[in-house]
Amino acid sequence: MDKFVIKGGKPLKGTVRIGGAKNAAVAILPAVLLCDEPCVIENLPEISDVTLILRALEYLGADISYINKSTVSIDPTHANAFVVSKSIAEGMRASSYFLGALLGRHNKARVAPPGGCDFGVRPIDQHIKGFEALGAKVTIENGMVEAKAPSLSGCSIYLDVVSVGATINIMLAATKAPGLTVIENAAKEPHIVDLANFLNSMGADIMGAGTGVIKIRGVNHLHSTNYSIIPDQIEAGTYMVAAAATGGDVIINNVIPKHLESIIAKLTETGAQVTEYDEAVRVKMDRRPKGCKIKTMPHPGFPTDMQPQIATYLAIADGTSVITEGVWDSRFRYVDQLTLMGADIVVDGKTAIISGVEGLKPAPVKAVDLRAGAAMIIAGLMADGTTTVEDIEHIDRGYENLAEKFAELGADIKRIDDHSEFRIIKEA
Ligand code: EPU
Repeated sequence: MDKFVIKGGKPLKGTVRIGGAKNAAVAILPAVLLCDEPCVIENLPEISDVTLILRALEYLGADISYINKSTVSIDPTHANAFVVSKSIAEGMRASSYFLGALLGRHNKARVAPPGGCDFGVRPIDQHIKGFEALGAKVTIENGMVEAKAPSLSGCSIYLDVVSVGATINIMLAATKAPGLTVIENAAKEPHIVDLANFLNSMGADIMGAGTGVIKIRGVNHLHSTNYSIIPDQIEAGTYMVAAAATGGDVIINNVIPKHLESIIAKLTETGAQVTEYDEAVRVKMDRRPKGCKIKTMPHPGFPTDMQPQIATYLAIADGTSVITEGVWDSRFRYVDQLTLMGADIVVDGKTAIISGVEGLKPAPVKAVDLRAGAAMIIAGLMADGTTTVEDIEHIDRGYENLAEKFAELGADIKRIDDHSEFRIIKEA
């Protein structure tokens, strides 16, 4: 298994280009199944979650051809299958989007429960509630979720919790359902807006994405489109925090600054200098951060997917910080790893109290999930000495060319496999 070896303690400097948004890509790719013609998707991130979704689409009968590393042409015309098996679904959370997309295409779908990061229980009751309101019967048998309907029709759905996944899945199932579907208490994340823009570019009739009420008027036919995915808000935020955490000066290019407001606000509060440009932000820091309070919330609140990274930064704050996790039940599993590096963090339920220390110390640590993995990379860059980060397959799910991008910023980071390490030890 590969691992990252980081010799930290150097400020990051230079420019980094952000790729396409993971959480938009993993919704838009299954959405191609609703189309009656081929589509071209641009600005796809080079991450394993995208590879898995494309593999699932191929398995369902779609024809896929790469035009370049970040552009793919997908012809869904012969995608006649409606089953996504366990071996395909379990590696990613977004496999649940095949339920909505296949239900919208065939009026039936059978999909194994999704995998993804472990933050405690990850229910899909709100997705099921939406499918049922649209007219489907949903059963769970032999470890597979099955949704079936003689036909779907528009309806009103109030989500009991603000759920990104349920909002997306209901949009997918409702796009071609005759009549008007109204989703109330919908999620407002940038990737929800991107999915609506993509569907509308094929001829769908979706209004209100980005607000709490989304209205979908079902259409019969979706035509081909060329669509470019928005930049990744969380990848951008990760490089912003890494820049501040290492006392660096980094320009983060190809971003939508509006999507980064909550992250900019918190970095500024801690003493970092953040400058916004049309499609870039610059983050500069020349001192220890001040401690602060953060509560993660659905968009436009501070994103839960930035929580481990900002906690790592605040580990060296001059003062105490309090982070309250407002989305997931259990998203502090990485704290044990940070403690190995000298952080002083006490977790009580959904709150972490971080007493700032002067610096982190290098150590062998693990990526316990995707964003926690990114946090360990930041910690390694902060600590003076050699840190190794294992279990990096989690990081590969959501960060493209991570070692290359950090190396461009002057970091000493290498990806090695156990085999090459063994060889080095033998040669030594
Ligand atoms: N929830 C329910 N019932 C449901 C669905 C969700 O109770 O049917 C609860 C969850 O337990 C959670 C809250 O609602 O407490 C929010 O969950 P949501 O459905 O919004 O999360 P998700 O769709 O499973 C997406 C992202 C996550 C991100 C969350 C929150 C994708 C593929 N995943 O997950 O991203 O943390 O929204 O913003 O879009 C990541 O990228 O690292 C990541 C984990």
